[in-house]
Amino acid sequence: MSDNHDKIYSTKFQDSMERKTLLMFLVIALAVAVGGIVEIVPLFYLPNTAMCATMAGNDPSCNKTQHKDASGKVIPMDKIIWNPATSAHKTLNDWQPGDGVRPYKALEMAGRAVYIREGCYLCHSQMIRPFRDEKDRYGHYSIAEESMYDHPFQWGSKRTGPDLARVGGKYSDDWHRLHLRYPRSVVQESVMPNYVWLENKPVDVAGTVQTLKVMTIVPFNAVPAKIYTAVYGDDYAGAAAELKGKTDMDALIAYLQGLGNHVKFEEGVNYRD
Ligand code: HEC
Repeated sequence: MSDNHDKIYSTKFQDSMERKTLLMFLVIALAVAVGGIVEIVPLFYLPNTAMCATMAGNDPSCNKTQHKDASGKVIPMDKIIWNPATSAHKTLNDWQPGDGVRPYKALEMAGRAVYIREGCYLCHSQMIRPFRDEKDRYGHYSIAEESMYDHPFQWGSKRTGPDLARVGGKYSDDWHRLHLRYPRSVVQESVMPNYVWLENKPVDVAGTVQTLKVMTIVPFNAVPAKIYTAVYGDDYAGAAAELKGKTDMDALIAYLQGLGNHVKFEEGVNYRD
């Protein structure tokens, strides 16, 4: 072996690079910089609807990219983020899909905690990327506003199962119940675990009420407290009443059924077509 020490196994360039630490460092720095620039620069050109709305379109940094509905009409900002003051539906209980992104209701909030507790995010993402194959499979790509009330967000980073960002309304509640209980009863080849115990576990009423209250004081995109107090009362007793007698299974299904249908986006393949 020792007599082969100076034999060059790779190219001369790589060999000399690997023997000169400083040069190696510079080349690595260059490679990382190029990689970083390629990733970051496109972000400067992506639409930011929330910012454009607050800038009233006058600011040159607003690139005026808009989102469209099924008929090709531009979705106004108050249909992207639900605003009880301007919406036809004034309370959380009157809200309809298409009114814009709204805060989670009590039962959904309980379900969201179950989703986190059970580690669903380890196999499922909630982030549809702006690529055609993603859109064909999952629907319109996710926009920032859709996770504005998520603390913490559930974008995930691995897809053992499909993306769930727009799973709301895709299946019936009964389907979800069967699927969560024993996934192979509806999808034969599924590798998703069974979650039978969720049916027997009552929801955490006190914890969920506390979470709803905390959501009104978080530093970013706090829920305007009157959205909750208007339907649940100042003491949130209405929320506790809604949660009473519900199981973790009911809550998780309510959460899943509310995913991704707050804004009514165009359907079909439009992006980059
Ligand atoms: C070990 C990885 C894994 C975990 C953990 C997991 N899943 Fe899944 N999930 C899958 C796979 C794989 C599929 C696709 C096969 C199927 O439909 O069962 C799937 C499918 C689904 C679907 C159907 C999606 C669609 O569009 O057809 C839903 C809904 C779902 N999972 C919800 C959950 C929830 C809620 C949890 C947490 C309680 C969870 N999953 C945990 C792997 C996982």
